[in-house]
Amino acid sequence: MTSQTLREARKYEESSEKMISAEERPAFHLSPRTGWMNDPNGFSWYDGKYHLFYQYNPYECQWGPMHWGHAVSTDLLHWEYLPAALAPDEACDRDGCFSGSAVTLADGRQLLMYTGVVRERQANGGYNEVQTQCLAVGDGTDYEKYGKNPVLDERDIPEGSSRNDFRDPKMWQEPDGSYRCVIGNRAADGSGQILLFSSPDGFAWQYEKVLAANRNRFGKMWECPDFFPLDGRWVLMVSPQDMLPSGFEYHNGNGTLCLIGDYDADTQEFTECSDQSIDYGIDFYAPQTILTPDGRRVMIGWMQNWDTCSHRRRHDEAWFGQMSIPRELFLRNGRLWQRPVRELEQLRRDRVAYDNVTVSGSVRLEGIRGRRVDMELEVRPEEGCDLYRKFSVRFAQNDSYHTSLSFRPGESVLKLDRKFSGSRKAVIHQRRSKVNHEGGRLRLRIILDRFSAEVFVNDGEQTLSAVLYTPQEADGISFIADGTVKLDVVKYQLA
Ligand code: FRU
Repeated sequence: MTSQTLREARKYEESSEKMISAEERPAFHLSPRTGWMNDPNGFSWYDGKYHLFYQYNPYECQWGPMHWGHAVSTDLLHWEYLPAALAPDEACDRDGCFSGSAVTLADGRQLLMYTGVVRERQANGGYNEVQTQCLAVGDGTDYEKYGKNPVLDERDIPEGSSRNDFRDPKMWQEPDGSYRCVIGNRAADGSGQILLFSSPDGFAWQYEKVLAANRNRFGKMWECPDFFPLDGRWVLMVSPQDMLPSGFEYHNGNGTLCLIGDYDADTQEFTECSDQSIDYGIDFYAPQTILTPDGRRVMIGWMQNWDTCSHRRRHDEAWFGQMSIPRELFLRNGRLWQRPVRELEQLRRDRVAYDNVTVSGSVRLEGIRGRRVDMELEVRPEEGCDLYRKFSVRFAQNDSYHTSLSFRPGESVLKLDRKFSGSRKAVIHQRRSKVNHEGGRLRLRIILDRFSAEVFVNDGEQTLSAVLYTPQEADGISFIADGTVKLDVVKYQLA
């Protein structure tokens, strides 16, 4: 039975969606049907389609009562909206259906697990959120909440752990058909921990152990965990709140992190070996992964960050928040690498290429412009010249605006700067990242989609993501060198 709350949300989104034209949205990144979007939820392959749900407040472009929005796709790039899947309409989730995940049940139905939130009045007049894990079962469009919700609550977590920060279950199915999930929590010392649970059937869940403990190393609470095998190792992804920088890592406040290590399935012991940021740009948070039918581990993140949500263009916007491009993950040299899903190549049109262009000062190249672009660059020093001091590429550019990427080989630092990208006030708009290069030779792939830029360095060694509010007519691209560089460019329009 669909509740009144969900019926109203579905009616509202259907009518408000009509007020947003296709040109006002990204072309191949998912944005909310209307209103506000944050984390990706329930990223799954079900009944012949990719399903992507998201944290959703249809009624305003602000975070608010959390619903689950819903969209499906066959290529991970073109999304079709389905009616909102969940609304905060039960005693266990009346103040929000927070993030969660999806698996397929033995009988073919789809199971969603999400965090139900209830605000509890405190003696001092304030509120505390109590967070529990709840289930809903459905057919890919309509979902019914489980009668025995919540299935995990404060009785299922270790002594002294927080009932207020216990959220974001990510489930998966084991080869024997049973299920596991990881959930973010805070230990008695206030620091994040990831709890592991198991279930024979998806409905009865049991606490197993603390899979990983932050011990106050990386930020505080760890949100939105995901845990999966990749290229012979295991990866634990989390989104820590309140991070402090460590060298060139973790500059984002609310950051993303992955721990790469080994997992012994018998003892359920995870041994961490290394840690790194997942994205080195400005806007990326709460990623979730899927195993595609052809065996790729694909990640999608919220292309926003809690610390930059106020950097908007205006307050009368019709939607806020978008997902990153889905990215194929792999390990190389012990680190996590990412590339845009290969499906993106099918959207490429109108190839324009230049080889061995000498850049000294500022250069524009005929045919190289646009705001829905897939562009690959290789820069290297000019033979017989001193190492150049700086190379920049500017895009989303006209006389008033530009966003730039600049590389200083002497420092091995790549900087993304969107100071002139149309946000409503000048605030901190930069990220710097250390990058690897051979004597000034660097490869960059830049994906633009109307309101964003995603940069893939050295074929996926690092990524930098940022949203842009720049008016669409600012579609220029130019190349600037302090010193002399040789440049190869291949650029496609993305349909
Ligand atoms: C992360 C997060 C999650 C929570 C959701 C609420 O961005 O804070 O931990 O489930 O957003 O919308």
